[in-house]
Amino acid sequence: MAKLLYSATASLDGYIAGPGGDMSWLTEHLAGDNPTADRLLADVGAILAGNRTFGGDDPNRGTESEGAFGGQYHGPVFVLTHRPPDEPSADVTFVGDLDSAVAQAKEAAGEKYVNILGADVAKQCLRAGLLDEILIFFAPVLLGDGVRMFDDPGGEQVRLAPIPGETAHWYTVVR
Ligand SMILES: NC(=O)c1ccc[n+]([C@@H]2O[C@H](COP(=O)([O-])OP(=O)(O)OC[C@H]3O[C@@H](n4cnc5c(N)ncnc54)[C@H](OP(=O)(O)O)[C@@H]3O)[C@@H](O)[C@H]2O)c1
Repeated sequence: MAKLLYSATASLDGYIAGPGGDMSWLTEHLAGDNPTADRLLADVGAILAGNRTFGGDDPNRGTESEGAFGGQYHGPVFVLTHRPPDEPSADVTFVGDLDSAVAQAKEAAGEKYVNILGADVAKQCLRAGLLDEILIFFAPVLLGDGVRMFDDPGGEQVRLAPIPGETAHWYTVVR
């Protein structure tokens, strides 16, 4: 059964995007080897993204690195939105509610991960008790403002357990 993983690269002060969805800060931190990200990519069977991520800033737009995982991901993509485009897309499935999106993405992922992209969608999955794991890569920068990796005013404490053998910030959500 596929697991639901929220992964992101965050600033040290906990933002995954700058003000207005700015992602230009990320470019200089993507250079170089990241064996954990490479390993994750091989284990991702589907992407579940929020529509702000899908339509958002991509510093690699127009280059061969555009898209998820620097353009290296080529599997199924599910996008949560209340406003699907009029024309269907061959590459992307637009879904209008969380449970259905998660079910479809898990089915598509098989035994691999459903990788969640977008803080809003991740928060909803966490609240719904659907989120299995969290993997955050921290970039050496303070953004000061923007989209928080988890923004849940009034939210409850959630315990996380380190995954044995992982040196990255990769945790199991304790339920
Ligand atoms: N640093 C990183 O690694 C990283 C990774 C991913 C994304 N990002 C950035 O993070 C930002 C996006 O994150 P975010 O938290 O603002 O938004 P998000 O989770 O990407 O998208 C939220 C949007 O998804 C749709 N949606 C969410 N839940 C839904 C539901 N239950 N049913 C139907 N539609 C639903 C809604 O769009 P509609 O208004 O269309 O209904 C909502 O406005 C972007 O700036 C992106 O570039 C950064």
